[in-house]
Order: sequence, then C-alpha cells, then structure tokens
Amino acid sequence: MNLKQQVGEKAAEYVKEGMVVGLGTGSTAYYMVEALGKRVKEGLTITGVTTSTQTKEQAEKLGIPLKTIDEVETVDLTIDGADEIDANYQGVKGGGGALLFEKIVADYSKKVIWIVDESKMVKTLGAFPLPVEVMPYGSQQLVRIFEGKGFYPTMRKNEDGENYLTDGGHYIIDLHMTKIEDPQSLAEWLDGLTGVMEHGLFLNRVNTIIVGHESGLEIIEA
Ligand code: A5P
Repeated sequence: MNLKQQVGEKAAEYVKEGMVVGLGTGSTAYYMVEALGKRVKEGLTITGVTTSTQTKEQAEKLGIPLKTIDEVETVDLTIDGADEIDANYQGVKGGGGALLFEKIVADYSKKVIWIVDESKMVKTLGAFPLPVEVMPYGSQQLVRIFEGKGFYPTMRKNEDGENYLTDGGHYIIDLHMTKIEDPQSLAEWLDGLTGVMEHGLFLNRVNTIIVGHESGLEIIEA
C-alpha cells in the first residue's frame, strides 16, 4: 500500500458516527474518501461537505450523504492533503486548484487533519509554487505586480492551453518564489490585493498531521 493510501485510511479512522466531515481534494484525500465510502457502506452515518467538484463526484459515487457548507451549522472534522508543510506546521495548498473552497471549509471546521507523505514535510515553504486564486478581470495586472516583486508568476493552464478555471470560476497564478521566508507577512500582503480571491498559504489552520514515512506513520499534534 502506498504512503498516500496509508495516511488516507488512517485519517478515515478519526471519523465517528454522526459527524459532519469536510472532504478534502487531491490524490491523498482520494484514499480517505474511498475509505470513508467503505465505512458508510458498512453502516456508518455521516454527512460529507466536499471541497471540489472532483471530490463531490467521488463521494456521490460512493454513496456518502452530502450537504453544502451553507447547509451545515459547523463541520466537526475536515481531512485534507497539503502540498508543503514547514517546521512550524504552516502549509501550502492548492496544487490541485481547490484552495478557496478548501480554506472556506477549513475555516468552519472544529478540527482539521492534514494527510501527507513524507516528501511534503519541508524546513521552509516555497519550493512548491504558491497558488493564488484571482478574479479573471484584472488578472494580468496582478501578474505584473507579482513580476515586479520577483515572484516569477505563471498563469495556470488547462490541458487545452487555456487559463485554468477553478470551481469558483477564477484563474490561478502560481508564484515560483523558491523560498517563503515570512509566510505571515506574505499572506497579509496577498490578502490586501484587490482581485485576489484567496491564496494557498494555510497558516495556523491544522490540528493534526498524519505523515506517511517508509518506516511507518507519524502523528503530529500541531
Ligand atoms: C487541492 O487543491 C490541494 O490543496 C491538495 O490538497 C493538495 O494539492 C495535495 O494534493 P495531493 O494529495 O494530490 O498531493
């Protein structure tokens, strides 16, 4: 069993009867959703809140009952992947393009678990390009601002070479910064830019991290 599957299945064990569960997006969250689908078939009653069309389609196929984030009071537990996690347990997410919905669901969750293989654990964030979800209108102006800062922005494209569209109908600009020395001030600066809908810096947002190592699973309480 690969490491993503191991952490995905482990995380599914944290889900208890009656919970409202935030279902993350990506190749690691995929295994957690599959494991939950199996438990639902065996009789577990939960309500899922999905973070992308991709996860919604998977959960529907598995017969996991779903509600939207607006139909629930609160989410008991959200389980999601991450692209990078630094030594202070700050994360970069959005490699799969679902960052805005993922951050909304995380913000209304009592507890958040991230599931990653060991390759995602880094000392400093930034080797993975930082996704910034932006309004199409004015997006080239933002590209210019990022270029001016030396952040090496690239507009994310789909397989047809067109601008990638998120589930929210926005574009993604990936910032190739190599090293993010001060994630907090970068996040605050991005939050202040008109047209930026959300960015992939998930700061102080995780409670538990399940890391898959070749030698076994590590559970970190952040
Ligand atoms: C989706 O937009 C992302 O935030 C994912 O959670 C993240 O990219 C991790 O994905 P993988 O598990 O596929 O690496």
